[in-house]
Amino acid sequence: MAGFSSLAREVRADLRAARQRDPSALGVRSVAMVATWPGIQALLAHRVAHAIHRAGVPVLPRTIAYVARALTGVEIHHAATIGEGLFIDHGAGVVIGETAIIGDGVTLYQGVTLGGTGFETGKRHPTVQDNVTIGSGAKLLGPIEIGHGAKIGANSVVVRDVPPNSTVVGVPGHPVRVDGRRVEGPDTDWIHLPDPVADAMRALSIRVAELERLVSELGGTPPAADPANVHLLRPVRGRNPAGG
Ligand SMILES: CC(C)(COP(=O)(O)OP(=O)(O)OC[C@H]1O[C@@H](n2cnc3c(N)ncnc32)[C@H](O)[C@@H]1OP(=O)(O)O)[C@@H](O)C(=O)NCCC(=O)NCCS
Repeated sequence: MAGFSSLAREVRADLRAARQRDPSALGVRSVAMVATWPGIQALLAHRVAHAIHRAGVPVLPRTIAYVARALTGVEIHHAATIGEGLFIDHGAGVVIGETAIIGDGVTLYQGVTLGGTGFETGKRHPTVQDNVTIGSGAKLLGPIEIGHGAKIGANSVVVRDVPPNSTVVGVPGHPVRVDGRRVEGPDTDWIHLPDPVADAMRALSIRVAELERLVSELGGTPPAADPANVHLLRPVRGRNPAGG
């Protein structure tokens, strides 16, 4: 029965989390959020299913999880352990596996998977510590540990433990910031990876431009107005998309 007594507190904390972390919740009443926020509905259903599961009732928890998935697009295994104040933004496509453990104050965006690699039994899903943010489409696979306060970039695929207070991006995911500082040292820049195809095209374009110049010299014609060239893309800078 311990599970049921904490239910109301957990639901209140989930609503508070959604209100604090979703700018679009400003001025929306709690009842409207429960009625129209799929992430909140999925969590509410999970809280109930998990409490019933812990009370030893068979079948019903699985049925609740199934109905919640059909309604919200969020699949949370009824046995998954979820702390207080989880916020699932947008909902659609989130999958949380059976042995996943989520701490307090965690934020998940749409399309996040806390899954297994497909080869393990027993504890086979990630453990996510407190105050972690996981960007849309990120896949966290296996019984890995995501340290508290970590940020996982959108569309990362994370298969190794993540240090606390770090930012991890890429496929496979690698830390690019730890405690707010750039990760230093050789082979640690996982964002600006070498691009051999672009390098080959650049080398070819230089050789084509040289040939065009020679041909125009030999033929006495003016050089091509637009010689073969490959331009480097300007690095894009902008606002942090988190919070949408
Ligand atoms: C990772 C994230 C949380 C930013 O964390 P941060 O600690 O503030 O890190 P920064 O923005 O300083 O980015 C660190 C580096 O990683 C790069 N980066 C950030 N997110 C990335 C991603 N998803 N994939 C690849 N590289 C990424 C940045 O370009 C930056 O590179 P730089 O070192 O060349 O400047 C954020 O970019 C992100 O992915 N948020 C998810 C938001 C989301 O899913 N929104 C959905 C709303 S509907």
